[in-house]
Amino acid sequence: MSGKAVLKLEGKEYEFDTLVGSEGEKAIDFTKLRARTGYVGFDPGYGNTGSCRSSITFVDGEKGILRYRGYPIEEIAEHATFLETAYLLIHGDLPTAQQLDAFVSDVSNHTMLHEDIKRFYAGFPKKAHPMAVSSAVAGALSAFYPEHLDPAKDQDLNKAIIRLIAKLPTIISYAYKHSAGQPFMYPRNNLDYASNLLRMMFATPCEEYEVDETVAKALDILLILHADHEQNCSTSTVRLVGSSMSNLFASVSAGISALWGPLHGGANQKVVEMLESIASGEGSAEVFLEKAKSRDDTTRLMGFGHRVYKNYDPRATIIKKACSDVLEKLGIHSKLLEIAVRLEEIALSDEYFVSRRLYPNVDFYSGIIYQAINFPVNLFTALFAMGRLPGWISQWVEMHDDKGFKIGRPRQIYEGATQRPWKPLEERL
Ligand code: ACO
Repeated sequence: MSGKAVLKLEGKEYEFDTLVGSEGEKAIDFTKLRARTGYVGFDPGYGNTGSCRSSITFVDGEKGILRYRGYPIEEIAEHATFLETAYLLIHGDLPTAQQLDAFVSDVSNHTMLHEDIKRFYAGFPKKAHPMAVSSAVAGALSAFYPEHLDPAKDQDLNKAIIRLIAKLPTIISYAYKHSAGQPFMYPRNNLDYASNLLRMMFATPCEEYEVDETVAKALDILLILHADHEQNCSTSTVRLVGSSMSNLFASVSAGISALWGPLHGGANQKVVEMLESIASGEGSAEVFLEKAKSRDDTTRLMGFGHRVYKNYDPRATIIKKACSDVLEKLGIHSKLLEIAVRLEEIALSDEYFVSRRLYPNVDFYSGIIYQAINFPVNLFTALFAMGRLPGWISQWVEMHDDKGFKIGRPRQIYEGATQRPWKPLEERL
């Protein structure tokens, strides 16, 4: 049921349509606000702005619900593989067995990088952050596939999508191999997506890497849990860049850069660094939490709080369980997990966190699993990017399929100097 909203401004009344989404979220249609009233909306951080209509992912932050294309995340994590989830997000429905086989085979057959791309890595310092390298190389795919440069004329967008999904694990593992001074390991097409990444990361030409099924499964689940989260910072970036008709590779490269920040995907690295600092005796969990609560300190409890979730992040529940399973299977006693559980316990009974409705988010436990698998800490956010890729792609495709889409271009409230005459150099003090 949609109604009308009435706005009173400077003695005049304006009526605006309202919209209601399929799960009952309500919006006022302000697309003609400026044209009709001369006013714009002021919403820094976009917390009250619906930037698009979307049928991909539903999040109810109050109730802690996450669904991809209508399927609850808990069921997807239990039954699907990451590539099946990617298909679901991008194509809108679960694949038949035949469609899934074809999709998996397509991805498996596009995992190699053009040999010339390998030379890029030689130019990066060994200490380069993997997100810097991944974003640069993902963007550089535009240089190798000119047929995908114009979204309006791309006859074979599906191929660009397959190429990106297939090549990102290779791009990321090469970033690691370069930093470790080890030879690049070519992908193996007979391995599943997660196992292939593990092998490219940890095998060397002198020694094979035995992929542990539990580890590969846990990694696959982590990728699924990160696969989409509607209009978050990196996804909105991918849409915004794509809205100028930039190609898919360039848009995804920008998404990787947006994800890098510690307030977004970079939090998984920061969580482990935080837990390590507590483990190394820099201060107890209690002392750390006092710092996180203090107004005079910029410290935050990393992996806690979320713009949308005001309840336990459903992904954190699944990851916490996967974390215990992997550590048990690998026979690892993790001091970091103990500290994380303790921090969570104290925070969830502390008035500061309770009143602000701050709960563990997807990043709180994921880093502990990555670390148990031996991924270096600075690679965690790149793993998040691998997971988020199908989400970015599906949102980019959905935007271009929307016949009414426009270039993204927010307004501002200008607060600078009003017009003033030019001051010659000699008159400036
Ligand atoms: N530790 C301590 N205090 C916090 C935390 C935290 N992790 N998160 C929020 N707060 C406090 C703020 O200081 C603020 O307090 P105030 O009302 O007294 O000023 C209040 O809670 C609201 O916080 P905002 O920053 O206004 O909330 P916002 O929605 O803008 O931020 C964010 C959400 C960025 C995720 C924030 O909770 C945060 O910085 N968390 C830590 C970083 C993190 O884990 N990021 C990953 C998010 S998940 C993802 O992107 C995949």
